[in-house]
Amino acid sequence: MINEHNLTQVYKGNIVYTPSLEELTTIENGYVVVENHRVIGTFEQLPEEYRNCEVQDFGHRLILPGFVDLHFHAPQFANRGLGLDKELLPWLEEYTFPEESKFKDLSYAKEIYPQVVHALWKNGTTRSVIFASVHKDSTKYLLDLFIDSGLGAFVGKVNMDRNCPDFILEDSEESLSETLEIIEEYSNKSPLVQPILTPRFVPTCTTPLMEKLGSFARDHKVFIQSHISENQGEVDWVKELYPESLDYASIYHQYGLFGHQPTIMAHCVFNTDTEIELMAKSGVYAAHCPNANYNLASGIMPVRSFLNKGVAVGLGTDVGAGHQVSIPKVMTAAVQASKMKWLESKKTLEPLKLSEVFFMGTKGGGKFFGKVGSFEPEYAFDALIIDDRELGTLDLTLTERLERYLYIGDDRHIEKRFVAGTEVLEPKKTP
Ligand code: GUN
Ligand code: FE
Repeated sequence: MINEHNLTQVYKGNIVYTPSLEELTTIENGYVVVENHRVIGTFEQLPEEYRNCEVQDFGHRLILPGFVDLHFHAPQFANRGLGLDKELLPWLEEYTFPEESKFKDLSYAKEIYPQVVHALWKNGTTRSVIFASVHKDSTKYLLDLFIDSGLGAFVGKVNMDRNCPDFILEDSEESLSETLEIIEEYSNKSPLVQPILTPRFVPTCTTPLMEKLGSFARDHKVFIQSHISENQGEVDWVKELYPESLDYASIYHQYGLFGHQPTIMAHCVFNTDTEIELMAKSGVYAAHCPNANYNLASGIMPVRSFLNKGVAVGLGTDVGAGHQVSIPKVMTAAVQASKMKWLESKKTLEPLKLSEVFFMGTKGGGKFFGKVGSFEPEYAFDALIIDDRELGTLDLTLTERLERYLYIGDDRHIEKRFVAGTEVLEPKKTP
């Protein structure tokens, strides 16, 4: 049985994964051996010692690592596809804050959040890093839903105590005490689901709030997520709020929120070289969200510059600024965006390759969770079984089949999902 300890699982099929940005490993009719939820290795021939194990044979199907979404706003799910003729700041005011305010009522969370978890499951997103809203009870409900689902997630109660409408503005003390309550209640509740500190972004967080959250990160070893340099209007606003600061990144850094614990910064469209170097030095992850950046006319993140400087880059759907839950659709948008950046940079910033975007949406983002996103030894067995027969001939290389699936496949081609060695079954769409 899959759930029992000390049992060896052997899966057979067409295996594809990326040990590094440049390297796509493909094994036709190969074997993945899993013991105690972790990968032992991938093999062209089943090693002698496993000959007696039962083999689950997936035939012509692809076996891929599960997808990792580093940036997703759960309370914006019902707003997908709305207000996307706007730029960031008016979109927040007119669409996002009013929708998020509805999560004050737990009953609204009970209507929407099961749909969110279901959509992630459906799209093969086995691990995700989630912004909830400012509301404590709805956030706890979402944490519990993820725990029940078997999917992996970081879920953060948003903090914001300035520059937003009264109906969503928090009292600073309450924001902090509720955050602490969630950390204490959820840090040891589940091996797969964890709370994360979530200051929304500099413009909506006072200095004392950021300082205190930085001390929570340090004292409780809690990971951190936020937004940075998504939109020019936002960057200008931050400059007005902190005229003395060197740049946007140094504000988070000053308050202990920039790699002091593992940190994700979403967007990174307008960061300076100095900021990119600080991210590399501090081990801050960039979540690249090309769909959202197109939708809100933000710009194109120069991903190549970040990779050249050694920043860990993962992918984010950024639902609801991003309209799609699918990480493959973000992978292909990232290739397209990088090609436009390549032209814009007079062909100096090389476009992203297939292996690079696949890496970002699996192992690159997966690193935030530990050994996740690959089939190398010791990695958690997070996997998708994909039947791509409907997409055309199977007489292609596995690299070509992967590329075709990412561009024209969808959730209908995913037959099974595994997280940490356990098959994850369809979660309920209603409470
Ligand atoms: N910056 C601050 N809040 C948000 C948000 O909800 N979405 C996006 N895309 N950017 C933000
Ligand atoms: Fe976002």
